[in-house]
Amino acid sequence: MNSGRSGTDSWPYPTLIAHRGGGIHAPENTLAAMKTGYLHSYTMAEFDVKLSSDSVALLMHDSTLDRTTNGHGPVMEKTMAVLEQLDAGSWHSESFRGEPVPRFSTVAQYLHGLGMMANVEIKPCAGREVETGRMVGSLCVDLWRDRFVKPLISSFSVDSLVASREAAPDLPIGLLVREPGKDHFAVLESMGCVSIHCDHRFVDAGLVRLFHDHNYRVMVYTVNEPNRVSELLALGVDGIFTDQLELMAKKFAQHLADTGRKIAAPPMP
Ligand code: G3P
Ligand code: MG
Repeated sequence: MNSGRSGTDSWPYPTLIAHRGGGIHAPENTLAAMKTGYLHSYTMAEFDVKLSSDSVALLMHDSTLDRTTNGHGPVMEKTMAVLEQLDAGSWHSESFRGEPVPRFSTVAQYLHGLGMMANVEIKPCAGREVETGRMVGSLCVDLWRDRFVKPLISSFSVDSLVASREAAPDLPIGLLVREPGKDHFAVLESMGCVSIHCDHRFVDAGLVRLFHDHNYRVMVYTVNEPNRVSELLALGVDGIFTDQLELMAKKFAQHLADTGRKIAAPPMP
């Protein structure tokens, strides 16, 4: 239980993480996005997982289909067979026309083939928090059974995280919030989280120190300005999600595969 909990242990993940797989360069949450992240030298992808009406886990950020596919209406009202017929690519650009909505299991196998790590964000449709958490946790156990580096599971939904924890007691989990603070320690502790994932605009030196002193990793989303990445690196954040894959890979190449880092020892009183 709580295998990765001790924050001073080495950490298997890189600092720079490809947001939604391919950032700005590819249609989010698709196989093409994962390939794009890989081709830009990223070793870890973040993506969003929810369930179809027939409870198949798939990648999609929004609760409706309209923004990122040629379909309409709520995702959770469609079967996977229907979702798989949609075009999830041409909203981005013509060259991705026909890119399908992928199953979570297909993406996991694809990432294994690329040798990439994963941050699996559970993004449940309203009312399906527990079911989605349980299913994603269980799938993470099965799909990464033979992999040395396990996926980092995260969610804004505490109910989803609790359910995923029950299904996957040995996998690391992180709590997603907008504005982090001391109030989050109770829930982090109760769920055995390894990390807090927060909006970078609410992160400063004191905040990073506070969470590091309590052995929690600090992950920040979504950072698309190189100067801000530099600042956050100087603060010692542990993970930075970015859409600007090409730009950041050029400027911060050493952070694409800087795995195994420990949290710096807290300063002496
Ligand atoms: O997991 C980090 C980030 O992806 C959270 O926000 O809305 O892009 O899923 P969102
Ligand atoms: Mg996300």
